[in-house]
Amino acid sequence: MAVDFQGRVAIVTGAGGGLGRLHALALARRGAKVVVNDLGGAVDGSGSSATAVQKVVQEIRAAGGEAIANAASVTDFEAVQAMVKQAIDTWGRVDILVNNAGILRDKSFAKMDMADFRLVVEVHLMGAANCCKAVWPHMQAQNYGRIVMTTSSTGLYGNFGQANYGAAKLAQVGLMQTLAIEGAKHDIRVNALAPTAATRMTEGLLPEPVLEALKPEAVVPAMLVLAHESAPTRAILCAGAGGFEAAHITLTQGLYLGIGDEVPEALAERLAEVTASEGQQVPGGGSVQGQVEVGKAMAAHGH
Ligand SMILES: NC(=O)c1ccc[n+]([C@@H]2O[C@H](COP(=O)([O-])OP(=O)(O)OC[C@H]3O[C@@H](n4cnc5c(N)ncnc54)[C@H](O)[C@@H]3O)[C@@H](O)[C@H]2O)c1
Repeated sequence: MAVDFQGRVAIVTGAGGGLGRLHALALARRGAKVVVNDLGGAVDGSGSSATAVQKVVQEIRAAGGEAIANAASVTDFEAVQAMVKQAIDTWGRVDILVNNAGILRDKSFAKMDMADFRLVVEVHLMGAANCCKAVWPHMQAQNYGRIVMTTSSTGLYGNFGQANYGAAKLAQVGLMQTLAIEGAKHDIRVNALAPTAATRMTEGLLPEPVLEALKPEAVVPAMLVLAHESAPTRAILCAGAGGFEAAHITLTQGLYLGIGDEVPEALAERLAEVTASEGQQVPGGGSVQGQVEVGKAMAAHGH
């Protein structure tokens, strides 16, 4: 199957450099018309410049593709709405949103300033939510949409010095879970990508030989598959150095211990059975937890 985007219109945020630039170039090369968005700031989110997005637009056009530049900050909802209007006015639709914009303000939690915590949440979580909200009515009306969140192994599993970033990145997975459910009847599919790549963001974080293996272009196929017509929904796809994995948020079978004064002791004693991974499932929605729990209670009472 060709992973083709003829006739599709895509918005890629944070596409002035790093992974976003490669996402925009790849979508355009495979036929999509692309809004190349980037605030053009430093890795900590300070400053702004439209030079980088204009260069990417020129690269796409030089290769025979179609692209327009947008320098909005994803944190500014009005500017994000104007960006979506720019896409609609130019090409009549928006099929794909790749929420890729991001910043870092790394410090151990003990030393972290709450202003840096808030800013990182603002860019990653509110930025993604702003973009989703702005494209949503158009995707609903056309009964088609593909949204790719950019999460991170830090959000999924943690990393020293990135409490703000990890919280904001897993929040995008939370946003994905409900948007995928709400979007299903309009064929809006929402997925998350967890990349590992040598970019300016990882420069100081990983050793040189590791960075060498982590060519950013190795991440792009996972984004393309999640943005394509054939995409799954509610998937968390991990990609780096040519390897691909999936992350799941699972629910274990657990135990029924009932309700009573002795339950804390029983739970403490049998915690390993509650957390055991045999027979765990990936629930199709949040209501599954309650169904499993009520089901166990009813079974214990002979229903
Ligand atoms: N590189 C990795 O290993 C890695 C790992 C996990 C997640 N990620 C995520 O992948 C995405 C891309 O990161 P990258 O590694 O290419 O780094 P990068 O710094 O090159 O790219 C991020 C881009 O987002 C832009 N941006 C920042 N704030 C913005 C705002 N408010 N509005 C619009 N644009 C804004 C920046 O100008 C920059 O061009 C980020 O969301 C990052 O958190 C990267």
